[in-house]
Amino acid sequence: MKLILLGPPGAGKGTQAKMLTERFRIPQISTGDILRGAVKEGTPMGVKAKSYMDAGGLVPDEVVVGIVRERLQKDDCATGFILDGFPRTVGQADALKGTLQDLDKDLDAVLALEVDAEALVERLTGRRTCRECGQGFHVKFDPPAEEGKCDSCGGDLIQRDDDQESTIRKRLHVYDEQTAPLIAYYGEGGLLTCIDGMQEIGSVQEKLLSALQAS
Ligand code: AP5
Ligand code: MG
Ligand code: ZN
Repeated sequence: MKLILLGPPGAGKGTQAKMLTERFRIPQISTGDILRGAVKEGTPMGVKAKSYMDAGGLVPDEVVVGIVRERLQKDDCATGFILDGFPRTVGQADALKGTLQDLDKDLDAVLALEVDAEALVERLTGRRTCRECGQGFHVKFDPPAEEGKCDSCGGDLIQRDDDQESTIRKRLHVYDEQTAPLIAYYGEGGLLTCIDGMQEIGSVQEKLLSALQAS
């Protein structure tokens, strides 16, 4: 199963991708997670990416295209992968096409999660992530058993630096300008299914699974 999860910031790409990785035993490739890891480690790439991410803008195409190209060549991608947060520009989508051709892989599906702007802001301002294991929560929609603590490992829950409301609005604007055109891009290729992402987490997962069965 080789698929792309498209959708604006807060649409639930990470939440849904994690559920799909368990079901299909294929890796989630989140460029956001990879970049945040590089920022945390202080690598040269992380240092460069941080300023773009803090401002709610996109990291330059050549950086993320290189990351994904390398990642897709790892052994765990042999039977499939879920791209989460990539591609995000037409340039990235064109580069991905070339990479997949070189690796002799074909996409099976592109699933686009649709969620209203105000719901996105509420999801992102209430999102919490485990500092230790990265598990995601939401203070209202997916709360941990104990406030501020991860259900899986007991680690502290933190807020992402780019989840302040002003940065969220900037990210949503960047999505509309640079990423939304990918809906038409993949629509033309016949691989695209749009999914109503406004339902609760479990219902959205069911919709994704039926779309995958149909594809
Ligand atoms: P990235 O990490 O990809 O962030 P994003 O696209 O802005 O998306 P999010 O991770 O914020 O949202 P999500 O859709 O994963 O939602 P989640 O499941 O967490 O990118 C961050 C930055 O890195 C970018 O701004 C850019 O600078 C850079 N970057 C990354 N990739 C790049 C690329 N390809 N090119 C250039 N730059 C790149 O859910 C959100 C919250 O809602 C959670 O709390 C969750 O519990 C809750 N929730 C989820 N589903 C539901 C539901 N159905 N109902 C109620 N609540 C829900
Ligand atoms: Mg995410
Ligand atoms: Zn944890």
